[in-house]
Amino acid sequence: ERCVVAVDGPSGSGKSTVSRRLATAIDGVYLDTGAMYRAITWAVLQAGADLQDADAIVKIAQETTLSIGTDPLAPRFRVNGTDVDAAIRGPEVTGAVSAVAAVPAVRAMLVRLQREIISAAPRIVVEGRDIATVVAPDAELKVYLTASAAARAQRRSAEDATDVAATEADLNRRDQLDSSRAADPLRQADDAVTVDTTGMGIDEVVAHLLSMLNS
Ligand code: C5P
Repeated sequence: ERCVVAVDGPSGSGKSTVSRRLATAIDGVYLDTGAMYRAITWAVLQAGADLQDADAIVKIAQETTLSIGTDPLAPRFRVNGTDVDAAIRGPEVTGAVSAVAAVPAVRAMLVRLQREIISAAPRIVVEGRDIATVVAPDAELKVYLTASAAARAQRRSAEDATDVAATEADLNRRDQLDSSRAADPLRQADDAVTVDTTGMGIDEVVAHLLSMLNS
């Protein structure tokens, strides 16, 4: 039967690793909505647009062709035919993505695309910031992943080999922007289950989510 799992939470809470593992475990696909905002941001930077110019950003977003991979083992993204998997994780995109994601028309465009992908997939794990609140409020399971600021910074800096203090500052900056923007801010859905992953291993988190799905 149909199974949509929404995984929301702040940066570095373990959403991607957990969501990919869970998607594999339920023999489903995986949608990384953060990567969609990152891909549009890459196109905006590539075009040299001013990040304050919402109209220019929207125009670029409308003219961008996104190819969105949903294989949980290799979720590859292309923007206008260019492979962007490495570039969208770089500091330039990470520094600019929250500004692009705050533009309401960009969100409307990507949310529509996200809903199309979800409708076409019988089993899917979708990760982001507004999945349970906006994109898929009727998901079978809604999870809000959290972790202490220190744990989140630790994980992220282990991934990208940057300094822990700088990483923590950047995560805090992004969470602040993501929770305070007017359009679809990061917030926990009333009916989402909170899982604090501080000190939990990935296997443990995935097993916990699977047990909730099967109960
Ligand atoms: O999850 P990730 O760190 O890749 O997300 C990058 C950025 O994309 C977030 O900081 C946020 O600004 C934006 N985002 C969003 N809504 C989503 C997913 C990501 O606004 N559903």
